[in-house]
Amino acid sequence: KMRRKLVVGNWKMHGSHKANAELLAGIVEARPFGCDVAVCVPFPYLSETAVTLAASDVRWGAQDCSAHEQGAYTGEVSVGMLHEFGCRYVIVGHSERRAYHGETDQLVADKAKAALARGITPIVCVGETLEQREAGETEAVVKRQLSAVIHTLGHCAGEMVVAYEPVWAIGTGRTASPEQAQAVHAVLRAQLRAATARADEMQILYGGSVKPDNATVLFTQADIDGGLIGGAALKAKDFVAICRAAG
Ligand code: G3H
Repeated sequence: KMRRKLVVGNWKMHGSHKANAELLAGIVEARPFGCDVAVCVPFPYLSETAVTLAASDVRWGAQDCSAHEQGAYTGEVSVGMLHEFGCRYVIVGHSERRAYHGETDQLVADKAKAALARGITPIVCVGETLEQREAGETEAVVKRQLSAVIHTLGHCAGEMVVAYEPVWAIGTGRTASPEQAQAVHAVLRAQLRAATARADEMQILYGGSVKPDNATVLFTQADIDGGLIGGAALKAKDFVAICRAAG
């Protein structure tokens, strides 16, 4: 397989100056990994993360952005600001944003477009709930979520990273089986092929209770190009082990 793997740590709303310094040092010391590695940190920690990682090949990014360039949007952070802090990636449409902040498919698509306009790679999350999976709606749901982004990005669609995160596997310790995950990744790859000539070079990440002991089998599936890691990204030892599994 020609695609380089990518492992992204999504710190969510965790961290402190002290914990971040230890975690980042642990990651930097463990290089090289043989895959692309990034951490998506809370906004207030972008500055220290940028300083700590600047001399390394570990990349960094944010967990959300505004779809707007600037303006009266209290509490929001623009892609221009992320650009000033050297962000390479921004996660958009994480299921927690969709569920707790009412983000629609179109808003997620608009955020992805805003990110690309600033040269920041959006990591676009899609995934079904347990209820949707049990109703047999998994394919329809992820296709609908990705379709909005494909249409909004147009000829730039090939520049995003896609992350498949079944909601029922996030933070639950319940991972999709490698076969379940691969099946959805194949659906997403086929949808991307219909939209862009770059589909076979694009990274499609799996997220949802990825741990050191299940990473290898997940990452060896044909269409799984790495992972979006939550809980296990908060411990250097675990995160490093997952990066090694991808490398
Ligand atoms: O963005 C990361 C995912 O939500 C996965 O989180 O690894 O804690 O299940 P988790």
